[in-house]
Amino acid sequence: MEYKYSNNQTIITKHDIHVIGVFSDKKLTHIENILSKESLNNIKRIIKTCNFSGKVGDYRTIDDFHTKKQILFFGLGEKQKYGPLVIKKTLIQIFKKILKTNISSLSISLDNLITHGQNEVTLEMIISSIENSKYTYKFNDEKNQLKLKTVSILSKTKIPLKKFNDILKVSLAISNGISLAKELGNTPPNICTPTFLANSIKKLKSKYKSLKIKILDEPEMKRLGMGAFLSVSKGSKQPGKIVIIEHMPIKSKNPIVIVGKGITFDTGGISLKPSPNMDEMKYDMSGAGSVIGVMKACAEMNLKKNVVGVITSAENMPGSQASRPGDVVQTMSGLKVEILNTDAEGRLVLCDAITYAKKYKPKYLIDIATLTGACLVGLGKYPSGLFTNDQTLADKIKISGDKTGDRVWQLPLYDDYFDELKTNFADIQNIGGRYGGAITAAAFLAKFTQDIKWAHLDIAGTAWEVGPSKGSTGRPVDLLIDFIRSN
Ligand code: BES
Ligand code: MN
Ligand code: ZN
Repeated sequence: MEYKYSNNQTIITKHDIHVIGVFSDKKLTHIENILSKESLNNIKRIIKTCNFSGKVGDYRTIDDFHTKKQILFFGLGEKQKYGPLVIKKTLIQIFKKILKTNISSLSISLDNLITHGQNEVTLEMIISSIENSKYTYKFNDEKNQLKLKTVSILSKTKIPLKKFNDILKVSLAISNGISLAKELGNTPPNICTPTFLANSIKKLKSKYKSLKIKILDEPEMKRLGMGAFLSVSKGSKQPGKIVIIEHMPIKSKNPIVIVGKGITFDTGGISLKPSPNMDEMKYDMSGAGSVIGVMKACAEMNLKKNVVGVITSAENMPGSQASRPGDVVQTMSGLKVEILNTDAEGRLVLCDAITYAKKYKPKYLIDIATLTGACLVGLGKYPSGLFTNDQTLADKIKISGDKTGDRVWQLPLYDDYFDELKTNFADIQNIGGRYGGAITAAAFLAKFTQDIKWAHLDIAGTAWEVGPSKGSTGRPVDLLIDFIRSN
């Protein structure tokens, strides 16, 4: 598929269809000068008679007999509520429909889609949304040929070709990162094992020169004293892996380190989960999937920022070697942990990876994890939970979340929560009391971060979609890439 940009808006006649966003005020000022008076009046009349509301989700395709073209207008809702989320949602919906037709070339009006006066950001968002609408899980390896070949983005503003090509490259890198995260999240757990994830990373490395990787296998982790990680992986026949991916194009600058939870299947271990919906626990590696997606994007767009991705991957199974509730294990940090619930395994694999990651002296360390059902219960599926020991960092993440529509909501880490992790049998226990489970989980991780600027994203509610579009969402790849580019 080819993307073009033009400030000659009259070229809509060269395409099969023209796509226009319309707010609920139904004003068409932004296209007044590109259509003939007859066409415009025709559209206005149809908008009126067909009861088009301009609400998000509403769209109509009409035949314009003057240009002899089709025009698709879609609702953008109220102007005051307009932003990145509306762009993504509406474009993905519209393009999923367009891709099912025989349309081979289309044009789309940029100007009224611009949010916060930011042409470039909007342009990136439009292109990556169109790209994302193409994603489907390829369970039968059948590549359906896309009919749509050309997308022309039209605006009254000129952009130099080189600039547009740069924007295009970045947008494609972002959407490719998101697609990879989705694909890994959707891959069945008998295929997507820790070894499979490590192999996917090896493939990435062979494609992009900027990437260096290091794989820690279980004997190596034993030498490093990663007793918490190993206590999870030992219940499974699948060997656990920690994979470090470096993208460090700049000399002597501390990297941003992102650590992803990669439990390729979470049965709960001996603290076995109930059967209903247990299949969904294949997405318990989504944090790792998002880290891999982000690293691919950074390499593909040739980003001049130092970034290190760490994926901490194991399968949580109730095998004969599995940990028992009551076991005490020693972490790489030296702290001893009493495992009271083997289903609170994410924090166990993460704490050793966080300790390991400290050797990079991270500028910021962000971990991403489908960590708790409690986060899903508390915040629902719209924002990821945000926890931090550094408010400035939290504010920056919040800004990237709002800018990309990949939203976060911060929860507190009061000292009281830490008290819930006290035990008579070790330095710390791996679960808190009955309430506030998302926060006590974050508090557990905070014990291993000490003086580094750290944030934790709980993506249990946001990484997976249920219902008819059941599957991985690729979140929070968008947020993380924006954060890395801006910091
Ligand atoms: N992977 C789960 C969290 C989860 C639940 C993610 C639902 C997505 C959807 C995690 O390992 C887990 O089992 N957490 C427990 C913690 C509890 C034992 C303290 C939970 O949330 O129930
Ligand atoms: Mn679990
Ligand atoms: Zn889990």
